Amino acid sequence: MVATLDDTKRNAIAVKLADMKLLQQLIIDNEERFLRECSDGEIANNLRKMLDDDRKNQGILDTVVVQYGIQKNAESTVQEMVAKVRKLMQGNELSFFEKVFQHELLKHQQVMNGITIHKAAQKVGADVMAAIGPLNTINFENRAHQEQLKGSLEILGVRELTGQDADQGIWARVQDAIAAISGAVGSAVTQTSDKQDMNIQDVLRMDHNKVNILFTELMQSNDPQKIQEYFGQIYKDLSAHAGAEEEVVYPRVRPFYGEANTQELYDEQARWGPWFEELRGISPATPQFKDRLRQIWDQIGDHIRQEESTMFAAIRNNMSSRESEELARQFKAAKSRIQERMGGETRTEAAV
Ligand SMILES: [Fe+2]
Ligand SMILES: [Fe+2]
Repeated sequence: MVATLDDTKRNAIAVKLADMKLLQQLIIDNEERFLRECSDGEIANNLRKMLDDDRKNQGILDTVVVQYGIQKNAESTVQEMVAKVRKLMQGNELSFFEKVFQHELLKHQQVMNGITIHKAAQKVGADVMAAIGPLNTINFENRAHQEQLKGSLEILGVRELTGQDADQGIWARVQDAIAAISGAVGSAVTQTSDKQDMNIQDVLRMDHNKVNILFTELMQSNDPQKIQEYFGQIYKDLSAHAGAEEEVVYPRVRPFYGEANTQELYDEQARWGPWFEELRGISPATPQFKDRLRQIWDQIGDHIRQEESTMFAAIRNNMSSRESEELARQFKAAKSRIQERMGGETRTEAAV
């Protein structure tokens, strides 16, 4: 069995990502409900925009989980909490103000989840940072949503407690607070938030970058255990990536990329399995391991460069952005299925 990288830390981050996905779905369901119940025009407008962001961010979370490469279930305590809040939101015990109040707490929780994952990733490795990169967009937007919800709460709360309207100027204050956050977060976020729908080139490039970072981390390490772990992660990531390319990308590009070019990509990837088998037979404590891996990586690098140059160009020239985005969705779904299958196999092997 191939050892996987820093299993405990990496699995803990995977569970937090699953927590985030579950919470995100509750947040989306709440906002849909609020929109049906809300009678204030301005608050409804804000909620509508928030719901759009949150639906988009659920898609980004899906991408991050697949890119991360480890799929887990949410913690049972989080599952229970979500079920409880969902029941409260459906019932009549809470006023609309109180429901939005609870919702703001969920947003806060989601912000803290995102920040915690970000900070933890910095401790685990550069490849993890690369995988969770798009999470920055979600964290920033959730911070902005929190400010908007605070404004809404002020209006709803004053109305519920006094029957009167709150002082004017709340939304201007909210806008100022959001501007301050956006200034503090900087331009990195604005760049990623443009990439709401990733096309197939974006997604493939993210994968290529991640394995290249893992390779660099491996080469810089002198600890055989670490080297073994990095190798395990490279093996897992590349297997899922290559499998998904063969399932959905190569068949799709074959008509315009050409029979010979496409077949070359299939043939090259067919060699990777035996190569990795060979590496598994070499002790990572010996210099031969890195020497052989470096030779293999030269070949893998050529393959990746071919995809990113001529295959990407062919995709750009022959597929619309919508088609390329659709292919990205299919690729992520295929990769996710392969990861699930591989996870199952690992468990069986571990049990033997
Ligand atoms: Fe490939
Ligand atoms: Fe690739």
